[in-house]
Amino acid sequence: MPFKKAMSAADLPSGTMKHVNIGGVEVLVANVGGAYYAINNRCPHMGGSIAEGKLEGTIARCPQHGAAFDLSTGKNVGPAKVAFMKLKVKDAVRYPVKAEGGDIFVDVA
Ligand code: FES
Repeated sequence: MPFKKAMSAADLPSGTMKHVNIGGVEVLVANVGGAYYAINNRCPHMGGSIAEGKLEGTIARCPQHGAAFDLSTGKNVGPAKVAFMKLKVKDAVRYPVKAEGGDIFVDVA
């Protein structure tokens, strides 16, 4: 599957993340110090929009129950917290991403 344009790099300053629909796939794209990352934006726990949460370095935290994902690997690195329970969450799907000519491209294949 080819890379598809996600957004202009100018729309994603360092230290921010946004979600974008690419071919029907909800993708979170982040810029961490000039390095770009892309994972599926739907939280594997209960489908929260991870991009609406917090970005701390390469760690994105889901706003719904706080599950944390390392954007460099897609791995879940922190549990979802519901009431007093801590629940293990699956890893997020990570996608190849590149910047070219001032735009950011993601391969969601
Ligand atoms: S939906 Fe993301 S932590 Fe629950």
